[in-house]
This record gives sequence, C-alpha cells and structure tokens, in this order.
Amino acid sequence: MITNPPRIEAATGADWPDIVTFLAGTGLPIDDLGQGAPMEFLVVRNTSGHIVGSIGIEGIGVERLIRSLAVAPALRGHGLGSTLLAAAEAQARDEGVVRLFLLTLTPAFFDHRGYDPVARDAVPAAVAASAEFIHLCPGDAACLTRLLEPSFSVIDE
Ligand SMILES: CC(C)(COP(=O)(O)OP(=O)(O)OC[C@H]1O[C@@H](n2cnc3c(N)ncnc32)[C@H](O)[C@@H]1OP(=O)(O)O)[C@@H](O)C(=O)NCCC(=O)NCCS
Repeated sequence: MITNPPRIEAATGADWPDIVTFLAGTGLPIDDLGQGAPMEFLVVRNTSGHIVGSIGIEGIGVERLIRSLAVAPALRGHGLGSTLLAAAEAQARDEGVVRLFLLTLTPAFFDHRGYDPVARDAVPAAVAASAEFIHLCPGDAACLTRLLEPSFSVIDE
C-alpha cells in the first residue's frame, strides 16, 4: 500500500541497495548503478518501506538521460509511472535541463507524454556516452526525446 498522493522522495547513497533490488525485478539495467556516473533518483516506498517506484536522471548539463522508470507490477495502471515521470521532468527543468533522452522497450508509454523518436546518432555525445547507450540497452530499444519547456514565464511590461 502507498500513500495517496504518493510520496516521492529524492534517493540518497544509502538507497542504492534497495534501488538495485527493486530494479533487478523489473528487467531494467542495473549494472552501472552506483558506479560513478552522475545520477539522481526519485523513489516511492510503500507503507512497509519497500521501494515500489523509481526513476533516474543521469548526466550533467542541459541534456540528460531519463532511466530506470519502473513501478511494482501490483501497482501499475494507477498513474504512479506518470507521476514519477512528471516529477523527474519537473526536477530536471528546475536544474536547467532543456532536453531529455531515454531508451526504452516500452515506447508506447511515452507516446502521449511529450516524447518523440530520435535517431541514436542524433543524441548528444554526453548522453550517448552513458552505459545505457554504449552497452546496457539492446539495439532495438527505442530512443526518445522530449524538449522541456522552461519553468518560468517571461512577462512583457
Ligand atoms: C512503464 C511503467 C513504469 C508504467 O507505470 P504505471 O504506473 O503503470 O503507469 P501509469 O499508470 O501512469 O500509466 C499507465 C499507462 O502506461 C501504459 N503502459 C504500461 N505498461 C506498458 C507497456 N509495457 N507497454 C505499453 N504501454 C504500457 C498503459 O497502457 C497506460 O497508458 P495510458 O495512460 O496512455 O492509457 C510500468 O509499466 C513499468 O514499470 N514497466 C516495466 C519497466 C519499464 O518498461 N519502464 C519503462 C522504460 S524505462
């Protein structure tokens, strides 16, 4: 059981073992987690303290990689995946990120969420240098991108 609305927390270094355990059950890549690449994770825990949802933002600079979006099977289909994605996008936007990239075997989830296909060779070098791009994601994974709108409005005086 999780709280309603879900409590999304920024993960700390102490959360890596729990994140790896959770993601290992989802089939998403875990081999590079905690290995030094700059990553921020958001997690949702159930009322027993177990992670039931996660998403990561990898990289530095204005173009970064979204990764490790997962929801525990029993909780899928109730909006938690969308909520995590929106939270990660908001955090990235607040940090000045202007474009996100991701690799996924489930591109349909991202269809109505602002993501468009992009050729792998059009991905910026800093993002393409990630372990997901180099060797962790299969070649048939879809490569998607989303341009983030700025989090402020310019008001003419
Ligand atoms: C993708 C995932 C995070 C969605 O989480 P969720 O909590 O079920 O998502 P929501 O309830 O917010 O949204 C459900 C939507 O996702 C779609 N969806 C869920 N899993 C899907 C899949 N495997 N393929 C296509 N669409 C999927 C549903 O059809 C629904 O679409 P709609 O809102 O447009 O009608 C979850 O299915 C999951 O953990 N999958 C395994 C890991 C994964 O593939 N992650 C994505 C790549 S990093």
